[in-house]
Amino acid sequence: MNKAALITLFLAVSSGLFAQNQLVLNADLGRDTISHNIYGHFAEHLGRCIYGGFYVGENSPIPNKDGVRTDLIEALKKMKVGNLRWPGGCFADTYQWKDGIGPKNQRPSMQNVWWGGVIEDNSFGTHDFLNLCEALGAEPYLAGNVGSGSVKDLSDWVNYTSQISGSPMAELRKKNGREKPWKARMWGVGNEAWGCGGNMTVEYYANVYRQYATFMTDWGNSSRLFRVASGANGADYHWTEVLMRDIPHNMLEGVALHHYSVIDWNKKGPATGFSEAQYFKTMQQALRMEELVTRHSTIMDKYDPAKKVALVVDEWGGWYDVEPGTNPGFLYQQNTLRDAMLAGVTLNIFNNHCDRVRVANLAQTVNVLQAVALTDGAKMILTPTYHVLEMYNIHQDALLLPLNISTGTYTLGEEKLPAVSASASKDKAGKVHITLTNIDPNKSQEISISLRGTTAKGATGRILTSAKVQDYNSFDQPDKVKPAEFKGATVKNGTLQLTLPPVSVVVLELN
Ligand code: AHR
Repeated sequence: MNKAALITLFLAVSSGLFAQNQLVLNADLGRDTISHNIYGHFAEHLGRCIYGGFYVGENSPIPNKDGVRTDLIEALKKMKVGNLRWPGGCFADTYQWKDGIGPKNQRPSMQNVWWGGVIEDNSFGTHDFLNLCEALGAEPYLAGNVGSGSVKDLSDWVNYTSQISGSPMAELRKKNGREKPWKARMWGVGNEAWGCGGNMTVEYYANVYRQYATFMTDWGNSSRLFRVASGANGADYHWTEVLMRDIPHNMLEGVALHHYSVIDWNKKGPATGFSEAQYFKTMQQALRMEELVTRHSTIMDKYDPAKKVALVVDEWGGWYDVEPGTNPGFLYQQNTLRDAMLAGVTLNIFNNHCDRVRVANLAQTVNVLQAVALTDGAKMILTPTYHVLEMYNIHQDALLLPLNISTGTYTLGEEKLPAVSASASKDKAGKVHITLTNIDPNKSQEISISLRGTTAKGATGRILTSAKVQDYNSFDQPDKVKPAEFKGATVKNGTLQLTLPPVSVVVLELN
């Protein structure tokens, strides 16, 4: 090789031209805002999510505010909960909200038929939930009972939470100790109407929706309601098509979608101690979210090119076998670095589709499925998933910056997945952030990001990783997987370079 060719090669290598992953950041091209509601969570009356998770009761020795554990409130405030969905899930279509108001010792009980058949004493009800949302600074997202409720019940519930005064529902609320209405704007019109919400066809449900939505109004007393139609199960594109076609858009603010990353519903595999093949399959399912969101959005575009109706992914996350020895109806699972990878790639997908995806809810907040916190009596630990949500909170209400990504692959046997995923945004103070994941458990990834539209000279950051993708936080080792400072990013000649270690999530701030 002659001297000139050697110099060219040297320049190419040093400017990242041969990095496996080439990205271009367009820092001057933002158009859409990443809603804080993409960073939503889900709290169902299921297992130990509400009782023992959030709610320990006013008389518990565990420090609490109005019965909700304060360690959890503080952790969630730090993480930033965009919105909180409640009371289900499948439970929502059995819930009688009027049984959960008034003096706690006079509330009737019910059986939680979907989740373990346990007796629900209704001690955590509407006031508890809406006050909790205020304490967290989170928007409430209530799921109405369509499957076994009535139009009047749901209409009354909306009025109870939103009307100022004068009406029977507003007066009942005041009698129960709450003078002012809450800001309860977001309402689900049933849940999984194709399954536990009533086993309906979409053609039938679309009519039911129209009837319920007609009577769900705040009658002009507060901000406009945001009504969400129960959406498709994964790739059921016909469901979305019919909802968008048959429901007038002046009574439809959102269409839901549920997708869980499950290897096989009959053989989910363990939450810890899984094989690489099981890890690969989970990530394959997680990355399917890109196709689901794209194809459901395309259908929505056909009926709503102005993108007024939001795609609301109000249940997502990993679903594995319950921890050995725990109640199968309680869906309690541990949470490893695999879940951190799942969260990292999914949130990048949502950010990059924020023109249509404006609400999403990770299932579920505590002690159920892909939880951000696990409790054991007075003890509480934060999971790897928590740390990803906390690291990514810089994207909330920031301007999405387009990122072109050409990535290397994570290969297992004959199958391949993109190794790297990323998204970028500019916050209200003008700070640019980039979040990156490398899902490959065996190889690090060289990253080169060409910085367009910014004069950044460097970057600071944080990283979440661990020796093995099976690593997790336990009550004995609560900080085994936690974020650390990341010093490996440099900017040279307008190009940001870094190496992502195997199974890592990195957040960078340009400066
Ligand atoms: O999140 C657990 C359950 O999964 C929810 O109750 C239901 O909506 C979904 O099938």
